[in-house]
Amino acid sequence: MKFFIAYATVEGQSRKIAETLATIIETRGHQAVITGASDMSEYTLERPDGVVLCAPIHAGRYPTYFTDFVRREVEWLNTTPSALVSVTLSIASDDPAEREEAARFPEALAAETGWSPRAVHNAKGALRYTEYDFFKRWMLKRIASKHNAPTDTGSDYELTDWAALEAFAVDFIELCGSVSGQPAGIVQ
Ligand SMILES: Cc1cc2nc3c(=O)[nH]c(=O)nc-3n(C[C@H](O)[C@H](O)[C@H](O)COP(=O)(O)O)c2cc1C
Repeated sequence: MKFFIAYATVEGQSRKIAETLATIIETRGHQAVITGASDMSEYTLERPDGVVLCAPIHAGRYPTYFTDFVRREVEWLNTTPSALVSVTLSIASDDPAEREEAARFPEALAAETGWSPRAVHNAKGALRYTEYDFFKRWMLKRIASKHNAPTDTGSDYELTDWAALEAFAVDFIELCGSVSGQPAGIVQ
């Protein structure tokens, strides 16, 4: 099967998640085309068997160019098996209310754009304290303490659960296989 993956990113973690998804898909014998959502002129797969969009939350929102992209492509997205990987820090919280907040971002995106992804995966993002400027480091430390995430700004932290991402990808490949009638397992 053919999969199309588009990502938005600010600090790089959503791109890394998108690249890992592409590897998982290819390892299982399928084709993956990956592109940044800000550079959609390059995509060539008109009829993929599945589409995955990955995007992070920054200050309570997905990047505007990502939301614009979803709105523009909504018809195509709603008629192709599609999934969203939403990257946040709040989903890593011990507090159920914070995790519920993370789950509301995809719902807000759906309400704003009309996109109904068949699957949503809430992925834990990363804290790259050593790469932030002073203000961002201060802000992220505050956000992290709210979500019970690491606050030692001398180190970086990748909180993404790669096994959970792989389990999501395998389920989505299976879903797309059942829609297209093609085998979802390893076809090599
Ligand atoms: C400036 C800034 C604001 C953020 N705001 C939020 C937020 O409101 N809620 C949240 O859950 N995570 C927030 N995060 C955490 C990001 O979602 C996390 O760092 C993610 O890995 C970023 O993805 P990216 O590297 O693809 O940009 C914020 C991160 C930064 C740097």
